[in-house]
Amino acid sequence: MKTKTAVDIAGLKLKNPVLTASGTVGFGEEYAPYLDLSGLGALVVKTITLKPRAGNPPPRITETPAGVINAVGLQNPGVEALVADILPRLARFGVPVIVSIAGETAGEYARLAGRLDGVPGIAALEVNISCPNVKAGGIAFGTEPAMTAEVVRRVRENTALPVIAKLSPNVTDIRTIALAAAGAGADALSLINTLSAMVIDVERRRPLLGNVFGGLSGPAVRPVAVRAVWQVYRAVALPLIGMGGIMTARDALEFILAGARAVAVGTANLVNPGAAAAVAAGLEQYLAEQGIGDINELVGAAHRTGG
Ligand SMILES: Cc1cc2nc3c(=O)[nH]c(=O)nc-3n(C[C@H](O)[C@H](O)[C@H](O)COP(=O)(O)O)c2cc1C
Repeated sequence: MKTKTAVDIAGLKLKNPVLTASGTVGFGEEYAPYLDLSGLGALVVKTITLKPRAGNPPPRITETPAGVINAVGLQNPGVEALVADILPRLARFGVPVIVSIAGETAGEYARLAGRLDGVPGIAALEVNISCPNVKAGGIAFGTEPAMTAEVVRRVRENTALPVIAKLSPNVTDIRTIALAAAGAGADALSLINTLSAMVIDVERRRPLLGNVFGGLSGPAVRPVAVRAVWQVYRAVALPLIGMGGIMTARDALEFILAGARAVAVGTANLVNPGAAAAVAAGLEQYLAEQGIGDINELVGAAHRTGG
């Protein structure tokens, strides 16, 4: 049986619903020897900022029983390096590239959006208002509806590209932030970013990470992320990109059934660089086994089936 896996996210046509989550495959090239990038729905690159950033002091990543805690701190070469060097090189992979952006002020987000508008090789912007590992900017914007709206509106005003707002789970009610982003002109929502977390080194009797706090990701966060997608699906009529602890196609299906039209694979890439391709193949296999002709039929299906 021929199955259809293509999805449409705010006019962005993806051959399948599987993306890489920002920050987990760098700018993609690093993974090209191990992962056929052209097989992805889209590549979401590491968050970039106006100026290069060195990131947080080490150690920046630690394992937990069911995931990792990272405090990379948005290390990146800055927008000019992205435009001049990285994007032209990415063109050869034949994959839609979604650029993640972050700033310390709403004005910086606006400038980034303006700088990237019209640059060839960008399919959409993902607005990272949810990074828990930087002091200025990042999560500060994603935990307060008025600031969320301000950032999204300023990005929207400065680009013709689809605008995807990436939400934080570190809030009381993620629906209020989702509604603020939608009201300000977001075309789609990504959820979730990492959960604020920490580990203490009992030998040194000190916080383990250089930044003290980091963001928890991986299987530990999946039930939280599925819940967030379920809630936002009911509250907001925008396409959702779900992520958080997706290791297999079955995990991805949970998100799709909860209401995600696309999914992103993050921490799993650190364990297996072929994880995103395996998830995409597994989804196709599930459709064939279940006799489902189009993956879009499954989006939000858990809200509709009884039991
Ligand atoms: C090492 C690492 C770096 C990350 N860097 C970013 C980033 O630069 N921008 C961003 O929006 N999210 C970043 N994230 C969050 C992921 O994109 C994703 O939202 C989160 O990890 C949940 O998905 P997962 O459990 O599949 O990893 C990072 C996650 C990890 C593990």
